Formats: sequence, C-alpha cells, structure tokens
Amino acid sequence: MKKTISYLHAKKHNRQKISVLTSYDYPTTKILEEVGVDMIILGDSVGTNMLGYQDETEVTLEDMIHHTKAVCRAIENIFLVTDLPYNTYQTPGMAVENARKITAAGADAVKFEGGRIDILQALKSEGILVMCHLGLNPQHDQDRMRSGKISKGKQFSEAIELIQAAKNLESAGADLLILEKIPGKLAKIITGNVNIPTIGIGAGKDCDGQVLIIHDLLGLNDKKYKHAPRYFDMKSMVKDVIGRYQDEVAEGIFPALEHTNIIKESELSLVQA
Ligand code: KIV
Ligand code: NA
Repeated sequence: MKKTISYLHAKKHNRQKISVLTSYDYPTTKILEEVGVDMIILGDSVGTNMLGYQDETEVTLEDMIHHTKAVCRAIENIFLVTDLPYNTYQTPGMAVENARKITAAGADAVKFEGGRIDILQALKSEGILVMCHLGLNPQHDQDRMRSGKISKGKQFSEAIELIQAAKNLESAGADLLILEKIPGKLAKIITGNVNIPTIGIGAGKDCDGQVLIIHDLLGLNDKKYKHAPRYFDMKSMVKDVIGRYQDEVAEGIFPALEHTNIIKESELSLVQA
C-alpha cells in the first residue's frame, strides 16, 4: 500500500516510529522497497555521496530531477521527499516553479532549508507537500561546518528560535519537519509541540522518526559521525570481493568452464575447417 502523508501523520499520533533513509538510485530504492521503509529523502547529499562534489552548494536542480526519476522507477509504496537544492528557492515564485519540476519527476513532497514562511505558503497554495528542514542547514551553514561546529540550538536563544520556527512552520502548513544536529532534549520539546511528524538526524531518540544517510549506515564511505554509527562495513567487503575477482582473472581461474558456453565438437570442427 502506498504510504501517504496521512499514513505518516497517523504513525506520529499512534506513537509508531517512522523509518527513513536517503536513497539516490534505482537498485538501492528497490532494496528499501523490499524491506518496506516508510520514507526516502532524496537529499542534496547526493552531491557528496554520489557525484563527487565538494559540498551541497554544487548540486543543481537537474541533478535532483535526474536522481528523482531514477528513484521513482523503483518506488512502489515508499513516500518520497526530494530536496530543493541550493539557490533554487530564493523567491516564492522560484520555489514553486522548481518544486513543480521535482514533483513532476515523481516526488511526493519537496524539502527546503530554513524557516521562510513566504516560501512555504507559496508551495502550500499550489497544493505541494512540504518538509521543512531546521537545525543544521548544510546548504547555508558551510562556513559553520568548515569550522567544525555542526550542532545547532545549544544556546538558549538559538533553542528558542528553533522552537518558534517549528511552530510557525506548522501553522503555515508544513507537512513534515526534519531536525538536524540539535540536542536531543530540544528535539523532544519541538516534537511534543507540533502535530506534524519530526524526523531526526543527530537529534536524539524522541523525534517521531529517524533518518540516516544510507552511505553512512552501510559504511560505503570513509566518513565518521557521532550520530551515524556504521551498521555494516560495506566498503571493506566490496574491496575484498573485487580483489578476489581481480586475482582470479589474473590467475586464469575466472571464468571457469561452468561460466562458459560450449559448442559441440562437430560444430567446432566445421569452424576450425
Ligand atoms: O541531504 C540530505 O541527505 C538531507 C538529510 C538530512 C536527510 O537533507
Ligand atoms: Na539536504
């Protein structure tokens, strides 16, 4: 059954946790469908994880559309949220025009960073489902991230601002919230003060759901974060397998007879004649 926004809201109200991962491609999305996760966020983290970009600000709308289409070829039931990338929503008009392109490519909802009520209202007046992204905002906090200060809301004034921003976004029609790298107790207060689901990343256990970057979860990259334990060391396993293949090719072990088509001796003699 297709997971709708009402399904996600019902999960919050029934105190059932929402499981979310990022996904950027067709085969990964197939696996997430087979497991049955609730939601995929096709984040602009596609840039650093899949495209070799330095940071989020290099990601284009075309990148997001290309990957949205790939993910959608595998989507059956999962709810898909795609990021509006950097510099694609400076005005309400731009936000609407670009969000429409993303939903036309197949996303169920779009996500944007920050607390801009005018942007949210413009999207909502077009009937677009919206996830708002509070706390660390990678598109806009690059300087902060370079200086290693990646958490938000540790100071009283910042914490109050975040609570207020969450309430304002809910009142203006936000459908979902993502809380990135804020103290667990602050995320708990926000989650208790809004009726829309909160999805946390590095925001403690009291959010309505959790998201991780799938490359972090699987150990496909060399990054290590406090909030993202590796469940699996996929990079080492893949390296082992590729090394074995390379050795078998070098030694003439692969391909073996069983991997090879055979031609009857009678036909062969004709070929050789
Ligand atoms: O780009 C991204 O992957 C995100 C995550 C926080 C889900 O925005
Ligand atoms: Na993002």
